[in-house]
Amino acid sequence: MIENFDEITQNTLIELEKTQKQFWNISRVTGEFLNLLIRENKSQNVLELGTSNGYSGIWIGKALKETGGKLTTVEFYEKRIKPARENFEKCGVLDIITTLEGSAIKILEYLPENEKFDFVFIDANKSETLRYFELIHPHLIAGGILAVDNVLSHEAKVKPFIDTISNHHDYKNVVLKLPAGLSLARKLR
Ligand SMILES: C[S@@+](CC[C@H](N)C(=O)[O-])C[C@H]1O[C@@H](n2cnc3c(N)ncnc32)[C@H](O)[C@@H]1O
Repeated sequence: MIENFDEITQNTLIELEKTQKQFWNISRVTGEFLNLLIRENKSQNVLELGTSNGYSGIWIGKALKETGGKLTTVEFYEKRIKPARENFEKCGVLDIITTLEGSAIKILEYLPENEKFDFVFIDANKSETLRYFELIHPHLIAGGILAVDNVLSHEAKVKPFIDTISNHHDYKNVVLKLPAGLSLARKLR
C-alpha cells in the first residue's frame, strides 16, 4: 500500500519517525494497519482522539482519500496543532481533516446527537479511555470500528476500558499484539 503514497508523503512519514518517541506516535506497522482497515471497511467518517504532530492522521487521511471520507481529530496541546496541520498539508490530506483543539472529554460531551462515526481511533489520555468509550458509544454506528492504541504498553491504565468492552454485548473485541497493543472492536448492533 505504501508504494501508492507520493514521494513527499513517504519522506514526511520517514522524517516523522525520527521523532516518534518525542511525539508519542503510533508505530509504522500500526499506521499501515489502520490505513488498511479504513480502506477495506470503506470508512467515511472517522474520529481520532490524540492528534499529536499528525503522524497517525496522515495514515488515516491517506486511506480516506481513497474511500472519499473525512477525519475529525482532537488535540488539547495547542503547540502540536500547527505542526500537525503543516504535515497534513504536505501530505495532501489537509482538506479532509478537521483538527479540533481542546479536551477530548469536553469535545465528546458537546458532540451533536446526530454526529455519527463509522471508525474511531483512540490515542489520547490513557487513563480516560473508558470515559471516551462511554461518550463515543452513542456516536458509533452499528458495524462501526473502534481501535484503541497502547492497551498492552499501558495495560493497567486501559484495564477498565478493556474489562468493559470485553463484557459489552454490543461489541466484539480482540487485542492485537501490534507494538503497543491495539484493541480492535466492532460494534455489533
Ligand atoms: C499518543 S499521542 C497521539 C499520537 C498520534 N495519534 C500519532 O500517532 O501521531 C497522544 C496525544 O493526545 C494528546 N492528549 C492527551 N490527553 C488529551 C486530552 N484529554 N484531550 C485531547 N488531547 C489529549 C496529547 O497532547 C498527545 O499529543
